[in-house]
Amino acid sequence: MAYFMGIDVGTSSVKALVMDENGAEICSASKKYDVLQPQLNYAEQDPEEIWEATKSVLQKLSGQYPEAVRNLKGISYSGQMHGLLLVDRNIKPVCNMIIWQDHRSVDQRRKIYKLVPPEQFHHITLNQLSPGYLIMSLMWVKEHAPKVYDRSALFLLPKDYIRYKMCGVPGTDMSDASGTVIFDTANKCWPWAVIERLGLRKDLFPECHESKETAGEITKECARATGLREGTPVIYGGGDTLMHEIGTGLIAEDRPWVSNIGTACQITCVTKRPVFDEQFRTNTFCCVKEELWMLMAVGMCGGSAMKWMQGILRVDTFEELNHMAEQVRPGSNGVIFLPYLSGSRCPQNDPLSKGIYLGLSLDHGRNHLVRSTMEGVVYSLKSDLELLKILTKKDPGTMIASGGGARGRLFLQIQADVFEKALYTTESAEQACIGAAITAAVGTGYFRSFEEACEKTVRLKDEIIEPIPENCKIYQEYYEVYKEMYSQNKELFWRLPS
Ligand code: XUL
Repeated sequence: MAYFMGIDVGTSSVKALVMDENGAEICSASKKYDVLQPQLNYAEQDPEEIWEATKSVLQKLSGQYPEAVRNLKGISYSGQMHGLLLVDRNIKPVCNMIIWQDHRSVDQRRKIYKLVPPEQFHHITLNQLSPGYLIMSLMWVKEHAPKVYDRSALFLLPKDYIRYKMCGVPGTDMSDASGTVIFDTANKCWPWAVIERLGLRKDLFPECHESKETAGEITKECARATGLREGTPVIYGGGDTLMHEIGTGLIAEDRPWVSNIGTACQITCVTKRPVFDEQFRTNTFCCVKEELWMLMAVGMCGGSAMKWMQGILRVDTFEELNHMAEQVRPGSNGVIFLPYLSGSRCPQNDPLSKGIYLGLSLDHGRNHLVRSTMEGVVYSLKSDLELLKILTKKDPGTMIASGGGARGRLFLQIQADVFEKALYTTESAEQACIGAAITAAVGTGYFRSFEEACEKTVRLKDEIIEPIPENCKIYQEYYEVYKEMYSQNKELFWRLPS
């Protein structure tokens, strides 16, 4: 039996999973870590804490499942996207990672567009600037922390550091490179002329490879620290939203689109050409399967809104939150939530936007807040879906749910009802890890193609979640109100502290 490992270096935890050649999940483990907020609008993580968490997850798996772990044929990665880690000549971090949720670099947008006009910038990167993207954080460091910039020899993305610790080879892949938003996304290369205009050092930019290329092998040091076998092949991997696509089998234009609710939330589809939005409300990134691009509409706040709810209502588990939401009828008795707790990137690119609960009265209690939070996240996904339908001139008949939002029955039903579409789910709840494990299997040549690999390993559950017509009707009405919540309030957001 052949085994492959996928490691997802996420925002709130690292997960590792071993899959066999038939897609059966042999074992998995995860460990949580925190996002550090040293100041308002900052979001950082300590790369060494993430590496320690990864080591402990790998030690656990190799201790409990020695047979599968020692026989791994390959390992690959999925990772939170966009984050900046600066390292020195010895690939030692020079500071914490500035991750995708960080908002300190709002002003860099204007400064970058002054050096490279937006039309020119957008038509190369195929993406609009927003705080949290690697290029914005890098320009911020150059301006505000010049000593850190000068000490840096290279940048890496979060998962790239973990891969480096395991095989000793730095570098990145096309999907994460396109997510830096300083990448020529159609031609798949660093845009040196633009980089020069921004006054950035070229030597900071890592080598860029296809996700399925081999980066190296597990080193002796990593083998000693984790229990993995020295010499196990290590494959580059890719960004998490791209890996969700692989893990749900979205590897061709005609497959169901993915609705993912992780820390953030996204609707994604794939295209044979690098399709992009002329208004740049969406993202276009390079896919893990090398001849495709991903069109993505993202909400900055998905599971993070639920985690926040859990904290402020002092509820112990997500299951309890679900139970509270189930006590309330669809529509939350008229409470509608705009989930812009971390600003918004799509359909409005407005980092200063904020969350709103509309329609509160003395009749409402905690349960309404919980349910309306879930519904607001899904309304935001619906606006993403509508946008992708317009851009691709297609309407996916069905969707596949992935991420934490694919686990609770209620979140799934809300998605089916709000989208008015039948929803599939996969047998494995860890689509990003499965996507990475599949990439390891393709990268090592075990499968000849992503088609063959997904055919053999991605399994959909028999149960399909169908929309309930009377719920759809309620959500249609509330969605019309939701659509106006941003436009009617945007100028008020700008008067609040940023
Ligand atoms: C994608 C994005 C998030 C992170 C979270 O553009 O910002 O999904 O990748 O992991």
